[in-house]
Amino acid sequence: MARKNSATPSFSHVQNIGIIGAGLMGLEIAALNVRNSFPVMIYDSNPEMLKTVRSRLSMELSDIEDEKVRDEMMSLIEIGTLEELGDCDLIIEAIIEKMEVKAELYQSMKPYLRANTIFTTNTSTIPIEKLSKVFPLPKNFAGFHFLHPVWNRELVEIIPSTQTSEGVLQRLSDYAISLEKTPLCVCDCPGFVVNRLLQPYLNEALSLLRIGVPMEQIEKAALQFGMTWGPLRIMDEIGLDTVMHAGKVLYEAYPERIELSPILVYMMKKKLLGRKSGAGFYLWGDDWRENVHNHAYQPGDFNPQVEKIVRDWQEGEPQKLSLAEIGNRLAMAMADEAQRILEDDVVSEQGQIDMAAVIGLAFPESKRGPLAWKARETSR
Ligand code: NAI
Repeated sequence: MARKNSATPSFSHVQNIGIIGAGLMGLEIAALNVRNSFPVMIYDSNPEMLKTVRSRLSMELSDIEDEKVRDEMMSLIEIGTLEELGDCDLIIEAIIEKMEVKAELYQSMKPYLRANTIFTTNTSTIPIEKLSKVFPLPKNFAGFHFLHPVWNRELVEIIPSTQTSEGVLQRLSDYAISLEKTPLCVCDCPGFVVNRLLQPYLNEALSLLRIGVPMEQIEKAALQFGMTWGPLRIMDEIGLDTVMHAGKVLYEAYPERIELSPILVYMMKKKLLGRKSGAGFYLWGDDWRENVHNHAYQPGDFNPQVEKIVRDWQEGEPQKLSLAEIGNRLAMAMADEAQRILEDDVVSEQGQIDMAAVIGLAFPESKRGPLAWKARETSR
């Protein structure tokens, strides 16, 4: 496999990258790496996903006008086997959010890992300590959490287990900077910082649906508050299956404040997975398949099938709330969790949580993060 061009500034000795999982995140992470001159070898257990790697990567890079530059970037991607990936300096696992599937993969990597291969997981929610216990070289293992959409989210969470070596953490931090991302080292807990902030926000949107607040109002309220996407669009963009798997992990950890909404369960049953399946809360148009990695692509109308599911699960008479009230309820769910994250010492300073929300979740910069916003709201 090619090594990173030595003329390119490199802050660490990570030279070549292996990615396991060529789904939404694996592909976006691959694009970020080739944009920054890192050669990437990618593997997926589903051959269908590998067949489309090049066309999807090309879509991810479609903003690059200079054809020569784009071709150079495209030449940095290679498809490989797990054994071949074992030769990479850094392997990023981005497979399905299920503990047992990740554990099985880690065991199958055992014969192929070099003593100095760093192995990271992009898990959104599963505690790193738990994953580290089933990884053959725990000192070399850490959480390295990119956020969706990778090209537009500056934050990367770095999560050590009790066994991760200091050298590995330093190299990961340097690597994040060389990708023009801001690394934030956070303590291990289900959901870390960003998904602990995000899940209550999404959960609140699902609760609002159940008391009869229309989808359109929820989305409008979030945009009026200053978010770039409403919570229903976020779920469609992430993928309802991933939201559900992550929600289960957080529900087990924090059952008193995370609900497994029947709306999500029914949407899953109907295979309404969001953008990646062409329909979720929104309808994504007939050409969704060719546009899964098109940054400019916009959703169409709200999905009437989901409107029906929501009606079936509605509790009581529909409540009428103003856009400001809806926006405040959504943001307060996030701010309350931010307070708990602070109390649990997941990060060392309050400012880091606000920063994570702004550069990780596009919380409006003008409101300076959920904790700062809540402090102003409650002092009125
Ligand atoms: P995805 O469903 O789009 O892709 C997962 C890929 O993994 C699929 O292509 C599947 O074929 C492959 N796969 C499954 N089992 C495998 C195995 N044993 N070996 C190799 N490949 C296997 O999922 P997505 O959204 O890319 O998520 C991947 C990881 O990233 C998850 O841990 C998720 O929690 C995390 N994540 C997801 C975000 C999102 O917005 N979707 C954001 C940040 C993290």
